[in-house]
Amino acid sequence: MLQMERMDLKLNMWATKHVLIVMSSLLMEATPLVWGKKLPNCSYPAIYSFGDSLTDTGNSIAAFPDQFAKVELDPYGTEWPMHGADRYCDGKVLDDFLEFGFRGTPNYPYLRSIAGVFEYGTNFASAGGSARNVTGWKPDNGFNTPFSLNVQLQWFQRYKVRIEVYYYYKNTLGDAAVVAQTLPTEASLNQSLYMVYAGFHDYFFDLYEKKRTPGEGLDSVPDVTAAITTTIEGLIAAGALTMLVVNLPPLGCIPALLTLYSGATGDQYDEFGCLKELNLITATHNEVLSDEVIKLRAKYPKVYFYYGNVHDVYTDILKAPSKYNVTHPLKAACGYGGDYNFNEKVQCGETGYVGNKFVNLTKVDHAVAAQYLSFDGIHLSNTANKAIAKAFFDAKHITPTGGFKCTPDYSRFDGRT
Ligand SMILES: *[C@@H]1O[C@H](CO)[C@@H](O)[C@H](O)[C@H]1NC(C)=O
Ligand SMILES: *[C@@H]1O[C@H](CO)[C@@H](O)[C@H](O)[C@H]1NC(C)=O
Ligand SMILES: *[C@@H]1O[C@H](CO)[C@@H](O)[C@H](O)[C@H]1NC(C)=O
Ligand SMILES: *[C@@H]1O[C@H](CO)[C@@H](O)[C@H](O)[C@H]1NC(C)=O
Ligand SMILES: *[C@@H]1O[C@H](CO)[C@@H](O)[C@H](O)[C@H]1NC(C)=O
Repeated sequence: MLQMERMDLKLNMWATKHVLIVMSSLLMEATPLVWGKKLPNCSYPAIYSFGDSLTDTGNSIAAFPDQFAKVELDPYGTEWPMHGADRYCDGKVLDDFLEFGFRGTPNYPYLRSIAGVFEYGTNFASAGGSARNVTGWKPDNGFNTPFSLNVQLQWFQRYKVRIEVYYYYKNTLGDAAVVAQTLPTEASLNQSLYMVYAGFHDYFFDLYEKKRTPGEGLDSVPDVTAAITTTIEGLIAAGALTMLVVNLPPLGCIPALLTLYSGATGDQYDEFGCLKELNLITATHNEVLSDEVIKLRAKYPKVYFYYGNVHDVYTDILKAPSKYNVTHPLKAACGYGGDYNFNEKVQCGETGYVGNKFVNLTKVDHAVAAQYLSFDGIHLSNTANKAIAKAFFDAKHITPTGGFKCTPDYSRFDGRT
């Protein structure tokens, strides 16, 4: 398979996109036969994930192929053998790592109709999807999509009904009555892990598009966290019994925002070089979210709530980057120029001019990308996502104490297959 990695160079753009997608799907599809055996204590049959571009594995591009075209092209997904992995990352996102740790497949996107393996989980997260409801969405809204958490919840509700209908026909009329598919069992739905990792898009794009000031971003925390809680309660109403609620990385350490909000004075930066004013937004979000989880634990005693602290894993890496082989904690792996290797005009995956300099950001060495916390200046890198998953599996920065209480399978964490 590896010799085919560069086949994209020989094909025209249209064929490239399509071949890469099919190849990635075929390759991933082959995995459950080998990896399906569950570890004794990692007993989650599947992972259902909800959120935005930090965890989307292909929903938004399935819905809007042109708008999100760049994530199926290099250098996005460069860690995947056939590339074109449809993720805003060089490699795996958090839900992929968790699913690998539980001996599953990558987390397949709900909207992709071809070659999905849904037995071990389904991804409902959508790039450009906010935690808060979207009203008045227009197709020219840049990075935004109408797939906010409330829409993702509706998708899950329909998904569950479809699964019930599928097994109803299969059980009453026999195998011939249904199209063979790799679906989860009905009984596994309430034993699975439901991950909600949302809100990044809400804060990030208000600031990125300079539609709101940092102060207004801070003011939106109650609405964003309320939308997350509403979704969690909707999932519980749909039968979820185990939730993983994930908080946000420090917004003031994201290269794109460090670039766009540069020019701050010395005391506006913290000890890591991040912008305090922006960090306050995520710190506040995380505090409110953590309180919400405590309240939810009391309100739903039958539901098990994990609280995953991405923020503190991120901070651990900033404190000791070399421990993670990170050489550039505040720079984008794929980007151009400035203090943070980010320029709004030509971004990762694009070519164009910055001044009169031609910039081509369609190629990044995967081993080099591994040394960064941020892949494209906006989204976390494979290295960051791996460190987060590893911390959670090691029962660090996750509550209740002891975390998942399991011996995970790390064998595919570093693999490029
Ligand atoms: C968001 O939309 C859902 C319908 O999907 C609705 O039930 C909910 O009340 C809305 N939330 C807000 C804050 O408007
Ligand atoms: C989980 O779902 C199954 C149906 O598939 C049901 O029989 C069982 O009672 C549910 N368990 C709980 C704890 O709700
Ligand atoms: C860092 O790199 C060394 C040498 O390649 C490797 O042994 C180690 O596992 C890496 N650490 C992490 C956290 O990836
Ligand atoms: C950008 O670089 C890639 C890989 O090096 C190359 O194939 C491509 O033709 C370049 N694009 C432009 C517009 O020069
Ligand atoms: C599974 O959990 C039990 C009880 O917590 C523990 O004794 C055992 O070592 C665990 N096994 C694995 C493979 O993690």
